Amino acid sequence: MPCPALPDGFDPTDPDLLHHRVPLPEFAELRRAEPVRWIPQQPGLAGFQDEGYWAVTRHADVKYVSTHPELFSSTLNTAIIRFGPHMERDAIDAQRLILLNMDPPEHTRVRQIVQRGFTPRAVRALEDNLHARAGRVVGDALAQAGPGGSFDFVTRVASELPLQAIAELIGIPQDDRAKVFDWSNKMIAYDDPEYAITEEIGQEAATEILAYAMNMSADRKQCPAEDIVTTLVAAEDEGNLASDEFGFFVLMLAVAGNETTRNAITHGMHAFLTHPDQWDLYKRERPATAAEEIVRWASPIVAFQRTATRDTELGGKRILKGDRLGLFYSSANNDPEVFDDPGVFDIERDPNPHLGFGGGGPHFCLGKSLATLEIDLIFHAIADAMPGVRLAGDPRRLRSAWLNGIKELQVTAG
Ligand code: HEM
Repeated sequence: MPCPALPDGFDPTDPDLLHHRVPLPEFAELRRAEPVRWIPQQPGLAGFQDEGYWAVTRHADVKYVSTHPELFSSTLNTAIIRFGPHMERDAIDAQRLILLNMDPPEHTRVRQIVQRGFTPRAVRALEDNLHARAGRVVGDALAQAGPGGSFDFVTRVASELPLQAIAELIGIPQDDRAKVFDWSNKMIAYDDPEYAITEEIGQEAATEILAYAMNMSADRKQCPAEDIVTTLVAAEDEGNLASDEFGFFVLMLAVAGNETTRNAITHGMHAFLTHPDQWDLYKRERPATAAEEIVRWASPIVAFQRTATRDTELGGKRILKGDRLGLFYSSANNDPEVFDDPGVFDIERDPNPHLGFGGGGPHFCLGKSLATLEIDLIFHAIADAMPGVRLAGDPRRLRSAWLNGIKELQVTAG
């Protein structure tokens, strides 16, 4: 029985809705009455664009679609890292070189190679360095704010560690980091007018990162180092990875690991400050389960898409070949079929089978261990150095069709 309560033009990728509240309260109604619902194209909305799409909102269905790449393709998707609706042909082809947009068997081949750089050993090797950096980031924020002073948590704390972690992982020298961070921030085509990122600016930044990656590859051929670039360059030499695939992987890392982790950390801080019992518990016990609950609560990626490869059925609806589907992780993460009291922020939640890092299929987030390590390290550092931190204003939310972002969060050091 279709959802009668939802207005006709309702689109859960409407930035004007997401701007105010995530998870959307309408998800509860969708999960109950029409868990797979056709959303017709809305004029002027970038969302999943084109001819409309199916909104998939139940945990079980998001998982099903994610784990059946033969039925639901990633290659046929419209671009997520897009530079506007009028993308040049070359740029569309280039999208196919991004891991997130590949299907098996190409995806399997490239993923097997690139995940060599993300082994538990590789992530552990970064731990001491990131631990020290997390302490410095929080210490610097505290020093700049002065005793009892306020500061923007997003720029001073949450942005810094994710960028440094990727730079460390890829082996970007300290002197180049500021410019790479700048390109990385520009590459996500925001729907937020405040950023004034045009298609041209986004595309220029992507071109700069690609050129930079190619130079790094040439460098590592001359002087191998202990980093992921050297691993990938070796695969390139063996003929297993094309050089443009390598370039686009670096580009993807610069986007995938940046905004997502930044928003998880910012939402985590906001959640702690609005749930003081959980912050007290965290400071006392530092439960290892906290990072996963922060990602469930934040759902930094509201939704990703897939495209049906053939006619099929989902949630009682007939899906036609070529139809697009939006997988709403933020809805799945609040599905009461799976989570007791999903509206409760509970850092001891265990088990916590959230889908914030994806629905468990071949595209499951490659950076999950790095992201949870960063979240752990930063909150440990805050609990040590700023246990009395307080909210100093309402968060200013990002206007976006697919990111659950906070662009400013004023806090008072304490
Ligand atoms: C893929 C979320 C951090 C690298 C994904 C996907 C999601 C996601 C939802 C897509 C899964 C799918 O389509 O099934 C997040 C969140 C993060 C985070 C919420 C932070 C809290 C990172 C970090 C890195 C990273 C730190 C690397 C430095 C990637 C890559 C993919 C990916 C390379 C593509 C994997 C593939 O297509 O095979 N992530 N991510 N992510 N993520 Fe993350």
